[in-house]
Amino acid sequence: MAIRKIATVGHPVLRQVARPVAREEIAKIQPFIDDLVETMHDANGAGLAANQVYEPIRVCAIEVRNNPRYPYKPNIPLTILVNPELTPTTDETFMNYEGCLSVPNLRGEVRRFTGLRVRAWDRHGNDLDFEVKGLTAGTFQHEVDHLDGKLFLDRVEDTRTLATWADFERHHMAAFVERAKALVAKYGA
Ligand code: NI
Repeated sequence: MAIRKIATVGHPVLRQVARPVAREEIAKIQPFIDDLVETMHDANGAGLAANQVYEPIRVCAIEVRNNPRYPYKPNIPLTILVNPELTPTTDETFMNYEGCLSVPNLRGEVRRFTGLRVRAWDRHGNDLDFEVKGLTAGTFQHEVDHLDGKLFLDRVEDTRTLATWADFERHHMAAFVERAKALVAKYGA
């Protein structure tokens, strides 16, 4: 296993639409998935998409376990998605204050659906089909956006919400945490 380098905003790999993984490749990409998870843990990410570590294939990892970067996020067990497809289950949206390992020291508000159906393969090629809600749905949308060459920056509707991490904590976090708590109370996620 190895910790990989994370591409930062401006690198073209982040703008590439990642290609689907073929079933025959599943065995071959297992060491890569281990690296992806190890790199996500090392960087305290809530998720990491393959193209963020310079592999433009449709694989992402998501896990939240008492995350120091996002202390208000409910835990999410380690989830590997291969060839994920997200379908909103509602028109309802919320404004999520997001950050990204590929966009150092910047956060901003983006609109996310509050409910999604997630269809994908797990790391072994088994079918996954489940629903996610609330803040957790925001995390899934952020990661799958990466596989489509999109960054949260593209979805910031009001650039005045952009903030460094220190300024987020100083000026925006308290209000956002209140909204986040309300979402968690409503959706349990
Ligand atoms: Ni990201």
